[in-house]
Amino acid sequence: MRKKITVIGAGHVGEVTAFKISEQELGDVLLLDIIEDMPIGKGLDMREGGPVGKYDSSTFGTNSYEDTVNSDIVVITAGVPRKPGMSRDELVGTNFGIVKSVTENVIKYSPDALLLVVSNPLDAMVYTAFKTSGFPKNRVFGMAGILDTTRFRAFLSMETNVSVESIQALVLGGHGDTMVPFARYTTIAGIPVSQFIPQDRLDAIIERTRKGGGEIVKYLKTGSAYYAPSLAITEMVESIVKDKKKILPCAAYLEGEYGINGIYFGVPVKLGANGVEEIIEIDLTEEEKQAIKKSEAAVRNVIDLLKF
Ligand code: APR
Repeated sequence: MRKKITVIGAGHVGEVTAFKISEQELGDVLLLDIIEDMPIGKGLDMREGGPVGKYDSSTFGTNSYEDTVNSDIVVITAGVPRKPGMSRDELVGTNFGIVKSVTENVIKYSPDALLLVVSNPLDAMVYTAFKTSGFPKNRVFGMAGILDTTRFRAFLSMETNVSVESIQALVLGGHGDTMVPFARYTTIAGIPVSQFIPQDRLDAIIERTRKGGGEIVKYLKTGSAYYAPSLAITEMVESIVKDKKKILPCAAYLEGEYGINGIYFGVPVKLGANGVEEIIEIDLTEEEKQAIKKSEAAVRNVIDLLKF
């Protein structure tokens, strides 16, 4: 049986995500938005591409939550994106209400689904879906770390002229400017990145990674990134649907891991059919611990603004 994957929000991120999931035949895709008829048009367009795109996913769009019944995975991208000069945290007022009401509707029809949250500010929005749904922590998680890591890997590839596929990297922490790209755990074909790139260039790449989302917003002017985010979501959906158990950096609910309790935070997790199946803890240096603490404080500041 094919999995049923619902994508809520048929804007830039939702639309490209629905298309990639359909194209890779990871399941049947349902695209939902509040804008009348728009998701129906986008879903039909994707379905009509099947014969030439060589995919059989039965993708369609809707304005009705009744159609989401018994979804296996629900990807939440509903909400507003940021504009130039804004931080993700400034979206909290608007997106909190949207993510809360979306979650309430979703759980009515799909009480056993996995919830994959993408709306920003990410760590606070996953927390919102977790508290609203009452689902166990393994079934509610967020996409951010893979996006931050793929940006880091892309910049390292540009710097070294080495295939992106040979570059492994890890970015931890909240999805904001305090995120922590780990040079120590970054390798090119298993060789420490420090053997390829001098420290000052590496520092500049880390800084660009931290501000990578803002760089795109600056160019787009009317919205935020969506190709790399959608591909990051697709990698998570694939690991779940195929029960691949990939270790990927995701926003997961922490209960003491990394010395953090009661919030969502970007950490490496094992992602499989049951969602977050394990949180991987790695040894940190004193300096890295300090960077993590700073990122934790930034996430807590936003979560403190939520009024359930
Ligand atoms: N229910 C369903 N869809 C909604 C709701 C709602 N309550 N409120 C808004 N939407 C829809 C909008 O109608 C729009 O089509 O969410 C979509 C958002 O699309 P875009 O404005 O194109 O934003 P996008 O770039 O897709 O980003 C969505 O993901 O990466 C994050 O920061 C980003 O929070 C933002 C989210």
